[in-house]
Amino acid sequence: MLKSKEIIIGVTGGIAAYKAADLVSCLRQQGMGVTVVMTESAARFVTPLTFQALSGNRVYTRMFDDEASYDYAHISLADRVDVVLIAPATANIIAKLAHGIADDLLSTFILAVRVPVLIAPAMNVNMYENPIVQENIKKLKKAGRVIIEPDSGYLACGQQGRGRLATREKIVKAIQSALKNKRKKR
Ligand SMILES: Cc1cc2nc3c(=O)[nH]c(=O)nc-3n(C[C@H](O)[C@H](O)[C@H](O)COP(=O)(O)O)c2cc1C
Repeated sequence: MLKSKEIIIGVTGGIAAYKAADLVSCLRQQGMGVTVVMTESAARFVTPLTFQALSGNRVYTRMFDDEASYDYAHISLADRVDVVLIAPATANIIAKLAHGIADDLLSTFILAVRVPVLIAPAMNVNMYENPIVQENIKKLKKAGRVIIEPDSGYLACGQQGRGRLATREKIVKAIQSALKNKRKKR
């Protein structure tokens, strides 16, 4: 079902960024074409080289890239994708997307996308339960974005609570269901 579909995975700067590497590998093994767009913060957690090696594709990190042939990556990527996933999604990207802020490649690209966008938040429990973050999540749901709810449990900061990135199985299931719904709508 995922075979020959194209996914763009947006990776943002949370400690769970390393889990996105496993996800990229898993989706590629299932036959998906995977391209990764990382924020500059994400690149401090996991190197673009890791994602390049696992996806077999160029990794996009910057809006203004000296080496880029001028193909307007934020627009051209949006034109050749079936589904978009942001995992992990920081409180910061959630806030930016909820308000239409476009100040880096990932946030600008999301504004240009017309396919399903799935967002998998991961953060400290107090951040996740912060009413402002919850309000932003509500806004994104209202705008048709799919939120893959985080799990509860041990968090990297040492606390317990909700905020763990959803499991790989849960994320893959959400991608499958988004692609199925998309087909039905056509
Ligand atoms: C060690 C460390 C771990 C972090 N983990 C998270 C996290 O899990 N979730 C989150 O929302 N922010 C986390 N942050 C904060 C983000 O990196 C910060 O808000 C950053 O501006 C996010 O940028 P981005 O959304 O453009 O990737 C962490 C910061 C540090 C230094």
